[in-house]
Amino acid sequence: MTYESFTLNEMSPACGGIIEGIDLSQDLTNRQFDEIHDALLDRTVIVFRDQHITPDQQVALARRFGEPQPAAVSGFEKSAENPEVDILEYDADNPPHVTRDLWHTDFVGTERPTLGTVLYAKDIPPEGGDTIWVSTAAAYEALSERMKAHLDGLWAFHNSYQPYDEHVRPEMYEDEKGTDYIKSRRATYRPALHPMVRTHPVTGKQGLFVNESMTSLIKDMDKRESDFLLRYLFDYLRTPEFNYRHRWQTNDLAIWDNRLSLHYALFDYTDHRLMHRIVIQGDVPY
Ligand code: SIN
Repeated sequence: MTYESFTLNEMSPACGGIIEGIDLSQDLTNRQFDEIHDALLDRTVIVFRDQHITPDQQVALARRFGEPQPAAVSGFEKSAENPEVDILEYDADNPPHVTRDLWHTDFVGTERPTLGTVLYAKDIPPEGGDTIWVSTAAAYEALSERMKAHLDGLWAFHNSYQPYDEHVRPEMYEDEKGTDYIKSRRATYRPALHPMVRTHPVTGKQGLFVNESMTSLIKDMDKRESDFLLRYLFDYLRTPEFNYRHRWQTNDLAIWDNRLSLHYALFDYTDHRLMHRIVIQGDVPY
């Protein structure tokens, strides 16, 4: 696709585009925004290099796509001035645990999973800290017709805490305070039920809608059957041909569509990495 307002370099056949020629510190015209939106729908994840914007400007940008979701269950610190902004920060004193991320889509354990995410790289380590996105539409498209027919019409439960908590924050299980906190967070929580093949509400494209972080059980299947099929899909979604791996630079700003993607942040660094994240409210998947 070509655009009048900017140039876009496609980063892999499946997804990913780097946009040049847009300064996000300036108000976007409707024309520019429409083209950025088209690029997002086409590429699933788009990145703008060398942007210099304030948290207010990041919030305003996110608002062009939808309402920011300040109350998202996250476990991350919030910005005091802009509660829509999650502060994702690690350094040598608080290093990320290597092997502790899981392939995920932001906040799918809710009835209305997020539409998308706006992530602004405030400080990037000299090496490591890449993010990988998977196009779940490319993955679905490549399945055999037999497997597509098997998956169409299946629904699965998505649990915000399982296996996510056990994997990402196992130390919470080590003492009474942690286990009480877990119990209180889960007391009124009910896992969300979503179709395993999701249709994008704007483009009509279909994609696999399962992830190893929160998809816990396929409805109307025995646990062993469900585990068997989910394990296969989680493994299948890791196929490199479906992904784009981004090497961040400080001041990159990425926007991705959570409706047809998964992502994984590599925890392979100890130097400072600081990201400002805004997630945008989505709709009920179908
Ligand atoms: C996220 O998982 O939402 C953040 C990804 C990243 O920090 O690269």
